[in-house]
Amino acid sequence: MKRKSKNGWRHQQSLFLLRSLRDLRYITHVPHHGESGRIVVDVEPLLKRRLYAGLSLSGSTLKEWFIKAAEEFCDEKKQPPFSGQIRYDCGDTDSSVIREEYKTATTATPEANQNSKASKKFTVISMFSGCGGMDQGFVGGFEVFGRRYRSLPFEIIWANDLNGEACKTYGRNLSRHIHHGDVWSLLDFMPKSADVLVGGFPCQDISVNGKRAGVNGSRSGLYKAMVEAIKRVKPKVFVAENVKALLRHETWLSQVVSDFKGLGYNLHYQLYKAADYGVPQTRERVLFVGTSIDVKSFVPPLPERNASNWMSVKEAIGDLEEVQESAQVNHIWSRANISPEQGNRKLVSDRPGYTIRAECHGNIQFHYRLARRISMREAARIQSFPDKFIFMSGLREIERQVGNAVPPVLAWHIANSVLACLL
Ligand SMILES: C[S@@+](CC[C@H](N)C(=O)[O-])C[C@H]1O[C@@H](n2cnc3c(N)ncnc32)[C@H](O)[C@@H]1O
Repeated sequence: MKRKSKNGWRHQQSLFLLRSLRDLRYITHVPHHGESGRIVVDVEPLLKRRLYAGLSLSGSTLKEWFIKAAEEFCDEKKQPPFSGQIRYDCGDTDSSVIREEYKTATTATPEANQNSKASKKFTVISMFSGCGGMDQGFVGGFEVFGRRYRSLPFEIIWANDLNGEACKTYGRNLSRHIHHGDVWSLLDFMPKSADVLVGGFPCQDISVNGKRAGVNGSRSGLYKAMVEAIKRVKPKVFVAENVKALLRHETWLSQVVSDFKGLGYNLHYQLYKAADYGVPQTRERVLFVGTSIDVKSFVPPLPERNASNWMSVKEAIGDLEEVQESAQVNHIWSRANISPEQGNRKLVSDRPGYTIRAECHGNIQFHYRLARRISMREAARIQSFPDKFIFMSGLREIERQVGNAVPPVLAWHIANSVLACLL
C-alpha cells in the first residue's frame, strides 16, 4: 500500500477497511458519506460493543484498530496466489505436508525492506504441544471449510509432549522436532532463546470434569514449567491456554496471573468463544498472552461471527454423512453404549457442536442424524482441523488428542495478533 497525500491516504485506508469489513459481514448498511464528507460505516451494535470492550482491555484505540484492519486487508492481498506456490514435502510416512515458500526480497529498496520484514520467520518453542492444534494455527497454511488460512511467519524450533501417541501425530503433520518426555526433564535441552513460547498447560486439575485439585495439582501445576521456561528463554511473546473454569476460581487465577506477571511481562488474558472465530463448536478457552516491554501490546483478534451466524455442525460435517468408515482418514467411531454419566448429547444440525472433550472414554457426542457417535474425523472438523491433518493413533488416543487441542482456526487468529506485536 503506497502512502498518498494525507486526505488520499485516509480515503484509501477507509476503502480498504470498508471492503474488509464488508467481507466479514460486519456492515449493516452500505457505507455512505457523513455530513463532514468522510465515509461513514454503520457497525452492528453488538459488534460495536465487543469492539469497544476488546479495545478497552487492550489499551489500543479505535483508530489504531482501523489502521490494523486496513493493513491486514492489504497483507492478505499481497499474499501470492495459492496455486503454483505449493511444494509437497514428503517425509518418511506417506503423508504430504504442505508448506508455502515466502518470496524473499532481492533488492534493498524500501519496498524490498518491507518485504524482507514480512518474510522474516519468528522462532517458536512449543510446550505441552499435544498433537499440535495450537502449533498448526501458528504456522498456518491450511485449508478447512473451504477457506484458506494463510501461512504465518512462525517456525517451531522445539516442541515437547509426554504422550508418545500425540508426538507421533505431531511428527506426521508438523515437525519431526518434537521431543517425547516429561517437560521437567527436558527443560535443560530447550533452546536458549526464541521469539515466542506457546503452551496449553494440562487442565485436568482445573476442569469442571476433572478432580479439581487446582493449579497446584500434579498436572495443572505444570504451568510452573512454563513459568520456568519463560524465565530462561525470555521470549518476546508467550501464549498460555487453559479451560474457562480457571477464570471462575479467584485464588488459582490470581496465582497464575501473578506468576506470569512476575516475569516482567505485560499480561493480557480473556475468554475466547471458538465459534466467534469460525470454529463450529461452543468451546470456550482462556488465553494468557504476555508481551515483553520491547514489543507492541497484544490486541486480541476481533470475532468474525456471532450467535446469529455461527457455523453449524451440518455445515462442518454434512458432507461426511454418506462416507464409509475408514481408519486411513480417521473416519472411525466409538460403539460405546449410552453412558449413565456424560456423553449422551446429540448434536443439533443447525447449531455448533458441543465442546469436544479429551477424556470421554468413547462417550463422544452422537451424530445429529445418523444412529452412531461422531467419527474422529468429524470431531477433528468440529475442532477445525484440516482434513490433511491425520491422527496416527487408535480411537481412544485420537479422542484424547483432538479433545485436548486448541482449535487450529482459533490459534491462527491468535497467532495473527501475536505477529502484529512483533512486526
Ligand atoms: C491441553 S493439552 C495441549 C494441547 C495442545 N496445545 C494442542 O493444541 O494440541 C496438554 C498436553 O500436555 C501434555 N503433558 C501432560 N503432562 C506433561 C508433562 N509432564 N510433560 C510434558 N507434557 C505433558 C499432555 O500429554 C497433553 O498433550
